[in-house]
Amino acid sequence: MCGIIGYVGKQKAKPILMEGLKRLEYRGYDSAGLAVLDKAKVKSVRAVGMVVELEKKIAKLDLKGQVGVAHTRWATHGKPSVANSHPHTDCKNKIAVVHNGIIENYLELKKRLSRRGHKFKSETDTEVIVHLIEEERRKVNDLFEAVQRVLPKLVGAYGIAVISEADPDMIVIAKKGSPLLFGVGDDEYIVSSDAAAIISYTKQVVYLNDGEVAKITPKGYQVVEIGQGEVEKESVKISWTQESAQKSGFKHYMLKEIHEQPQAIESAIRGRVDKFIKEGSQTPILGGLAPTKEIRDRLAKIKRIIIVSCGTSYYSGLVGEYMIEEYAGIPVEVETASEFRYRRPVIDENTAILAISQSGETADTLEAIREGKLKGALSLGVVNVVGSTIARETDAGVYNHAGPEIGVASTKAFTSQISILTLITLSLGRQRQMSFVMGKRIAEELKRIPGLVKKTLKKEAEIKKIAKKYGKYDNWLYLGRKYNFPIAMEGALKLKEISYAHAEGYAAGEMKHGPIAMIDSNFPSLFIIPSDSVYEKVVSGVEEIKARGGKVLAIATEGNKEIAKLADDVIYIPKTLEMLTPLLSVVPLQLLAYHIGVSRGYDVDKPRNLAKSVTVE
Ligand code: F6R
Repeated sequence: MCGIIGYVGKQKAKPILMEGLKRLEYRGYDSAGLAVLDKAKVKSVRAVGMVVELEKKIAKLDLKGQVGVAHTRWATHGKPSVANSHPHTDCKNKIAVVHNGIIENYLELKKRLSRRGHKFKSETDTEVIVHLIEEERRKVNDLFEAVQRVLPKLVGAYGIAVISEADPDMIVIAKKGSPLLFGVGDDEYIVSSDAAAIISYTKQVVYLNDGEVAKITPKGYQVVEIGQGEVEKESVKISWTQESAQKSGFKHYMLKEIHEQPQAIESAIRGRVDKFIKEGSQTPILGGLAPTKEIRDRLAKIKRIIIVSCGTSYYSGLVGEYMIEEYAGIPVEVETASEFRYRRPVIDENTAILAISQSGETADTLEAIREGKLKGALSLGVVNVVGSTIARETDAGVYNHAGPEIGVASTKAFTSQISILTLITLSLGRQRQMSFVMGKRIAEELKRIPGLVKKTLKKEAEIKKIAKKYGKYDNWLYLGRKYNFPIAMEGALKLKEISYAHAEGYAAGEMKHGPIAMIDSNFPSLFIIPSDSVYEKVVSGVEEIKARGGKVLAIATEGNKEIAKLADDVIYIPKTLEMLTPLLSVVPLQLLAYHIGVSRGYDVDKPRNLAKSVTVE
C-alpha cells in the first residue's frame, strides 16, 4: 500500500528519498514521486509505474536540496497517472504533501475549496489537504501551525508529510490511522511509513500516535497532540538488522522468507518454553501477555475469545481456535476483522479480543480491536512489527520476533503466528484444566518443529517438479479437515495471490455438498491429508474425486503408502502432533505456490493489485 519517505538534514535529500522508495517497493504500488526543496523552490517529479521510471525521469536533475518528501502510491481515488501521483502541490506549487490513507470528506472539501478559487490538478482525495494548508499557512507563522489547523477538518485516515517554500528547513508530519514514524540520526531525520525502509540509516525511531503532529528540523523535533498540547516523545531502538530486510542471495523475498521459517519459529518460542519444560513452571513465559497483575487476573477469568484478523492472519486465527478450544477449553470465535465493526457483536468484560497481525497496521483489524475495547473487552495482540499501532493499542500481547516480512505473500509470519498461538494455548490451558504432562508434551513437540520444517524444506526440488507438472491448471480445489481446513484456505490464497490461478480452499467434508460438481480432468484437487484423527474421512473424499476423473495431489505423512496408490502425486511431511501439523503442511503449499507463480513468469514479490500492509478500510 502507499508508502512515505521524508528527509531533513545535512545531506542531499534526493538519493536518500530514492533509496527509501526502493525499500518501500515491496508494499505494492503503481506510481511514485518526490518533491525536494531546492534553492528555496519546491521541485517535484512523478512517474507512473515502478520506481525505476521515476529514477529515469530524475536522473539528469541535479537536486541539491536537503529537505524532501517522497511517496509510492497504490491507487484508491483516481487511476494511476502522473497527475494523481504524490506529492501534490498547492495552487502556487509552494507546498508539497504526500499522504497515505483516505480522506472521506474530500468531495465536500473540494467543492468548498473550488468555490474559493483553488485549482485542482488531480482526482485524488489527498489534494484537498495541500489546498487547505495553503489557506491556513497565510494566516499563521509557520507550516507546523498551519497543519495543526487543517487536521481537525479532515475526516478519515492519514499519514502525511509536508514541506513548504516558506519553511525551508522543516518537514511537518501527522498521523491518524496510517502508520508514520521518523528515524533519528545525527542532525538529520528520516520519515517513513515503514520502519524496514529506514533501518540502513538509523535504528532509533520515534513512532507517532494517532492525533499527533511533529515538526522536524535538522536541529530537532517537536511533537504536539491535536487539542492537547506538546508531548514528550522518546525514540526506541529497532532490533531488525539491515541484512534481515535484504534478499541474501535468494531470488525473491518470498522464497527467502519461506526458508527462514525454522528460525522464525525458533524465535517465536525462544526463552518461552524451556523453563516450563524443565522446571514444570506453571505456564510458558509470555511476559507481554500478562504484563500486570490486573491483566493476569482478567486473563484467568475470560470466558470467551474473539480473534479478529484478515487474510493469512485470519487463517492462523482459525488454527488457534481449534487449539484453544481443544486444549484450553475456552470458546473461541474467529471473525474477519472487516466484518466485526459493522454488525453488533456481543462482547462483555469477560471477553478477550485477540488481534493477529503481521504488520500491526491493518486498518480493519485495528478498527475491530478498537471496537472490542470500547465495549469493555480485554484486548490482546499477536503482532510481528514492534511498536506498530496494534501493538501499542492492545492491553497486552505477544510479539512474533519473526524479523521483517517483505514478501507481499505472507509466509513466515503465518507459521510464527501459529507457534505463538500454541504458546497461548499452553498458557491459557495450564491456567485451567490442562495437565502438566500434556502441556510438556506439546511444548517439547513444538521445539522439534523448526527441525521438521527444515526437513520439509528439503523437498523443494521435488515440489518444483510438481509445480511444473501442475502449473498449467487455472482452477484448483484445496481440501483439508480439522486443523488442516484453515491450511487448505491459506494454501489456496497463496496460489491465487502469486500465480493468479483460481483456487478454492474448502473443508474436505463440504466438498460433496457442492464443489465436487466442478471436478473434471482439468480441475485438480489438492488434499492435505496427514495421518491424524480425520484421516479416514478425508480418504473418502480422495476416492470420490478420483471416481470422477479428477487429479489429486496429496500432502501426507511420511510412511503412508496407501495414499500413494490413490493420489496422482504425493508430497510427504514428517509426523508430528495433530495440532501442530499445520506448521508442516503449509510449507509445501507455500513452495508450490511460489514455483507455480515463477513458472508462469510472474514477479512473486510484487503480485498485481496487492499491497503488503492494508492501511485503509
Ligand atoms: C496474504 C497476506 C494478507 C495479510 C493480511 C493481513 O499473503 O499477506 O492476506 O495476511 O492483509 O495482514 P496483517 O497480518 O499485516 O494484518
